[in-house]
Amino acid sequence: MTAGKVHVFRRSEDVPIYRPSVYSRSAILDPYPRYRELRALGPVVWLARHRLYALPRYAECKAALRDDGTYLSGDGVAANPVVNRLSRGTTLNSDGPEHERRRRLVAHRLMPRALRGLGEAVDEQAHRIVDAAVRRGTVDAVTDVATVLPLAVVPDLVGWPHDQRDHLLGWGAATFDMLGTANWQALTAVPRSVQMLRFARRVVRERNVLPGSMAHELLAAADDGDIGRDEVPALLIDYIAPSLDTTISAISSAIHLFATHPEQWELLKADSSLLPNAINEVVRFESPLRAFTRKAGATSVIAGVSVPAGARVLALYASANRDEHEWKDPWLFDIRRDAGRHVGFGNGAHACAGQGLARLETAAVLRALLDRVERIETLGEPIWAVNNIIRRLEHAPVRLVAG
Ligand code: HEM
Repeated sequence: MTAGKVHVFRRSEDVPIYRPSVYSRSAILDPYPRYRELRALGPVVWLARHRLYALPRYAECKAALRDDGTYLSGDGVAANPVVNRLSRGTTLNSDGPEHERRRRLVAHRLMPRALRGLGEAVDEQAHRIVDAAVRRGTVDAVTDVATVLPLAVVPDLVGWPHDQRDHLLGWGAATFDMLGTANWQALTAVPRSVQMLRFARRVVRERNVLPGSMAHELLAAADDGDIGRDEVPALLIDYIAPSLDTTISAISSAIHLFATHPEQWELLKADSSLLPNAINEVVRFESPLRAFTRKAGATSVIAGVSVPAGARVLALYASANRDEHEWKDPWLFDIRRDAGRHVGFGNGAHACAGQGLARLETAAVLRALLDRVERIETLGEPIWAVNNIIRRLEHAPVRLVAG
């Protein structure tokens, strides 16, 4: 039934075709040559293996993200139909007024004004984490530094109960992994993601949330009849699942990039006003989120290619952020370039609701490192995680040389 639904449209004849998988293990571990090939083929490329219209270039990717009336999220943003059918009820997977209503419910907690109160506590935590790392000298940038802060901050903010927090990282990663094509990776991720949903349902049933948290506020909205109680678990997951791996990716990539580009670290040390742009450059250069899909709600034309109604379009954020048509020397990591227009946090109506928090956490760790660390040295090749959606380091041994 689902397959019928997906295959009703025919590939447009005027589109270049790319046959290899963009979700194979090798494509996940070494994505940039593939993205370059896709961009060279054209602004719209038919991914024969996945039956998707890929948008590998910046202009078309951004335009499609902004046209949320044509390119819809309500039928899911995954690259496989099964998961798209399962993932209902989130902010990410909704359109129009429904999307606005859901986003309003929680996004105000993540606005800069609401986050201001959190800044000092996050800075203190970041300094503690970095102090401990500097004392050790040799650390894993991922497990000893980047992972610690998001895990200390986000579950409390969302109001996730203290039990089962050990599972959060695995559950969150699985929830992303499922959103790729229906490969083995995605299939084996399903049970962990379902476990997370079950636990979220139990949390709501037992009202086992932290007082004053986002979750607490959502339960109060359900009590007042503003939202259905059955909406609360998906919304909780909507905010906790994308908040860990993504930020861990940005923080660990930042450390790794400054270790491998010592001249950029020196630039940042000499002028810390570059910090906000440095974070943009990290997210541009190693975009934590590779790609999501949209369903074409109507037949449309993108850069001369006709995309039929019902087709799936793949917004390749990570490729758009390396597009040589948009960026000068996109393969260079340079914190002085104007990186603010990257699409690493998405764009348009669905642009990341948590980017303020992600920036706050990443800035706190980098500031703590700037205060204490003269230089960062890599100690061997890093290991990248294998996930259909998230690009992030799994391990990155570094030496933090104190100032
Ligand atoms: C560096 C860290 C992060 C990156 C790179 C990132 C990236 C993204 C991207 C690309 C989207 C757009 C999805 C789309 O186009 O369909 C998005 C949406 C979203 N993100 Fe993030 N994210 C990060 C951190 C966070 C955090 C910390 C939270 C929560 C506290 C969060 C919550 C969300 C939510 C709820 C949405 C859906 C927004 C909507 O559909 O209106 N993200 N994120």
